[in-house]
Amino acid sequence: MTYLAKGSSGTVFIDPNDSTTVRKVFESARAYGREVGTLTKLHAHGIDDAIAIKGHDDRTKTVSLEYLPHTLEDLIVRRTLSPRQKKDILERLAWFLVQIHGTGTVHGDFKAKNVVVSGDMRTVKVVDYERSKRSDDDTDDVKKFKFMMVQMAFDLPYAKSYKGFAKYASRFDRAELLTMTDMLQIYEALSEARD
Ligand SMILES: Nc1ncnc2c1ncn2[C@@H]1O[C@H](COP(=O)(O)OP(=O)(O)O)[C@@H](O)[C@H]1O
Ligand SMILES: [Mg+2]
Repeated sequence: MTYLAKGSSGTVFIDPNDSTTVRKVFESARAYGREVGTLTKLHAHGIDDAIAIKGHDDRTKTVSLEYLPHTLEDLIVRRTLSPRQKKDILERLAWFLVQIHGTGTVHGDFKAKNVVVSGDMRTVKVVDYERSKRSDDDTDDVKKFKFMMVQMAFDLPYAKSYKGFAKYASRFDRAELLTMTDMLQIYEALSEARD
């Protein structure tokens, strides 16, 4: 199998029989259970921007998922996204968070590495649900989302913290700042549309 990535609780391979599918093999039964449980629930609610789950095997703790070739982190590092593409992606991700929080689910590890994107950049999906939990408190996801906005708006993949934003922002021109403001407004408008 073609090795793709090793994360904190699993290893991801491209399926040898199907190049549109990855297999994530878990070490922990608990993390496996969370990934399968949350993905099943989100799809039952019609939330299609959660990565598609094609199958799972309790015995080997393996989940089969739709494969999208880029991570958002790579696209930020390589600076391949236009302002328009950034805005579209952030809009979709904001809507994704509004939808999952609406079902009482917190992603728990929301970041650019856990967002995957298709070759034509039109499909954006969120992976990695092993730290997901039930909660009414979506603060952590929201904080990370705002941080992701900063990374994308300013191509700053390794900026240390959201707090540093104000400092960085003052160095960039108004056009970029306007984009940033637009994005925050999109998120806030969508958050209010929750109920
Ligand atoms: N469906 C997928 N399509 C493409 N890449 C994926 C997919 N799922 C995971 N990956 C890649 O594997 C990495 C690790 O998977 P992830 O689900 O985040 O597990 P971990 O909890 O170990 O971080 C991701 O950051 C991403 O690069
Ligand atoms: Mg991950």
